[in-house]
Amino acid sequence: MAESNGDDGFAPLRVKRVVRETSDAVSLVLDVPAHCSAQYRYRAGQFLTLRVTVDGQDLRRCYSMSSAPVEDDLQITVKRDPGGVVSNWLNDTVSEGVEIHAAPPEGRFCLRDTDDEVVAFAGGSGITPIMSLLRTALANSSRRVRLFYANRSRDSVIFAAALERLAKENADRLTVAHHIDDDSGVVTPSAVGSFISGAGAADYYICGPGPFMDTVEAAVLESGVPRERVHLERFSIEPVPADVADASGQTEEIVIELDRKTVTAGYRAGNTLLQTARIAGLRAPSSCETGSCGTCMARIVSGGARMLNNDALDDDEVAEGWVLTCQSLPTTRTVHVVYE
Ligand SMILES: Cc1cc2nc3c(=O)[nH]c(=O)nc-3n(C[C@H](O)[C@H](O)[C@H](O)COP(=O)(O)OP(=O)(O)OC[C@H]3O[C@@H](n4cnc5c(N)ncnc54)[C@H](O)[C@@H]3O)c2cc1C
Ligand code: FES
Repeated sequence: MAESNGDDGFAPLRVKRVVRETSDAVSLVLDVPAHCSAQYRYRAGQFLTLRVTVDGQDLRRCYSMSSAPVEDDLQITVKRDPGGVVSNWLNDTVSEGVEIHAAPPEGRFCLRDTDDEVVAFAGGSGITPIMSLLRTALANSSRRVRLFYANRSRDSVIFAAALERLAKENADRLTVAHHIDDDSGVVTPSAVGSFISGAGAADYYICGPGPFMDTVEAAVLESGVPRERVHLERFSIEPVPADVADASGQTEEIVIELDRKTVTAGYRAGNTLLQTARIAGLRAPSSCETGSCGTCMARIVSGGARMLNNDALDDDEVAEGWVLTCQSLPTTRTVHVVYE
């Protein structure tokens, strides 16, 4: 039986089933032991952070649930990233019965509680959370759902058969439009414009490769959809801009408050606030370490820091001084950060 969560919040979940979706994508059905079930309850659109050891290195990666919470089994779907370490390792080596360490579900890419139409755009592996969202909307509401699903080639379409079945079963309210780059070239703003023409009040959900998301987001906003109706889930992180990396060169020390302890730590150029806290011997909280979950958030009470990636905090939280410490490089000589 799986033990409960370790000190770092990760629990071993047994792989119950491995489903080969395409030659470059695999779904893993994970068994959540009864005593962990409350912690691993999730909302459609959320993700798990996995911690795996590959060639002796501990690595963390996030994977969204492709299952819907209304179903029994929790499932993630992993597409190979060419040259990527963890996605290929999961595709090539994981078999039934092995245990994978996962932190409890996180994420805000969730259905808004309205009766309005759901308009979803997925590119490649971006179908994973979208599949969970659309199945949930169909099962739990009478909302209409449209999906625009882009892939490079026909043989890389994940869930092709399941989507066809869902579209037949829900012919009155689910529309699926496939876009294949090999046939039609990359997705253009005008393809997005024609797909959304005629949509009334709706929530827009976009997930896929960066350039695809940028094109879709711009076209949707251009068509007059209010920004708060557009929900994005980014799988990849932009490279660190040189000026941000350089700015941390002037920092000398970081004052960190955690668990009623205050520690002043010397700063090593290039380290994030989270790394600095760890080097100082503090057990600072974290999970995804990609700026997606918010577990590592803390408040800057003096000095400054700049986040490399932020997919977890909203504008109000940032304005109040909250940062994701796993993504924050200091920009002033001293910084005082408080984990609350
Ligand atoms: C919230 C969230 C949810 C996600 N959900 C899913 C999901 O449901 N399904 C899914 O498949 N993915 C998902 N991802 C992406 C996933 O977490 C991984 O980022 C992805 O699987 C790639 O990991 P990897 O270890 O295979 O690649 P990495 O080893 O991290 O490499 C990533 C890319 O960088 C390149 N690279 C690596 N090192 C270098 C270097 N030194 N120089 C130049 N290039 C380099 C690699 O070639 C590769 O293309 C999600 C990400 C986030 C943040
Ligand atoms: S650990 Fe997830 S945002 Fe920092």
